Amino acid sequence: MDSSIVLFGPPGAGKGTQAGRIVQATGKPQVSTGDMLRAAVEEGTELGRIAKGYMESGGLVPDEVIIGLIKERIKQPDASGGLLFDGFPRTIPQAEALEEIAPVSMVIAIHVEDESIVERICGRFTCASCGEVYHDVFRPCKIDSICDSCGGIEFKRRADDSEQTVRARLSAYHEQTSPLESWYESKGLLQRIDGNHSIDQVGNSISNLINE
Ligand code: AP5
Repeated sequence: MDSSIVLFGPPGAGKGTQAGRIVQATGKPQVSTGDMLRAAVEEGTELGRIAKGYMESGGLVPDEVIIGLIKERIKQPDASGGLLFDGFPRTIPQAEALEEIAPVSMVIAIHVEDESIVERICGRFTCASCGEVYHDVFRPCKIDSICDSCGGIEFKRRADDSEQTVRARLSAYHEQTSPLESWYESKGLLQRIDGNHSIDQVGNSISNLINE
């Protein structure tokens, strides 16, 4: 398996928004554990049943569940050229498990202030057809209520995007996930990006990193 990239950062930092650009530049498929878990909840699978309560409260789904999910995902043929991990790993045990099963060449950490995160997440909506990510103020549809990307007219908001849950997700991030930054830094893999700029400016910084 070729090396993978990890897209790292707090909830609402812009990982999903920027992932498309990295996929285009590198050809590595995006693997979002959040998207996989939401699909499982919607389908009502055993995984979804386990994950639902953790996600609704803003906590992290147990490591063994997530590691099992990733082990299955990397067996798929499209993983041979490496993957773009979005929202994984989120704990040191997850990172250690990843180290054993897939090489990582770069960790892109997007930094955003907590108060901006709350504002970003509470205004987020996505196209129900293609999943394109929008924001009421920062990234509205070019034509009102029509998806720029696929022309879809149905949109949805995530159940865990309330202010109360966002604050719980931020606590989980600061307590369990942020220690991973120094873990990856000590391995010489970490690249920090200032995410407190416009979507295009952040995207350009990421493109510069990837093309270095
Ligand atoms: P997950 O789906 O991974 O959510 P998250 O990490 O909380 O991140 P988000 O998807 O909320 O944010 P994002 O960084 O992708 O931001 P976006 O681009 O959408 O996880 C959900 C839950 O699943 C977790 O809470 C946990 O329970 C569970 N889970 C998932 N993975 C797990 C794991 N590995 N281990 C354990 N549990 C796990 O942008 C947000 C908004 O801001 C959008 O509206 C966007 O338009 C806007 N925006 C983006 N960039 C900018 C900008 N530069 N300026 C202004 N607005 C911007």
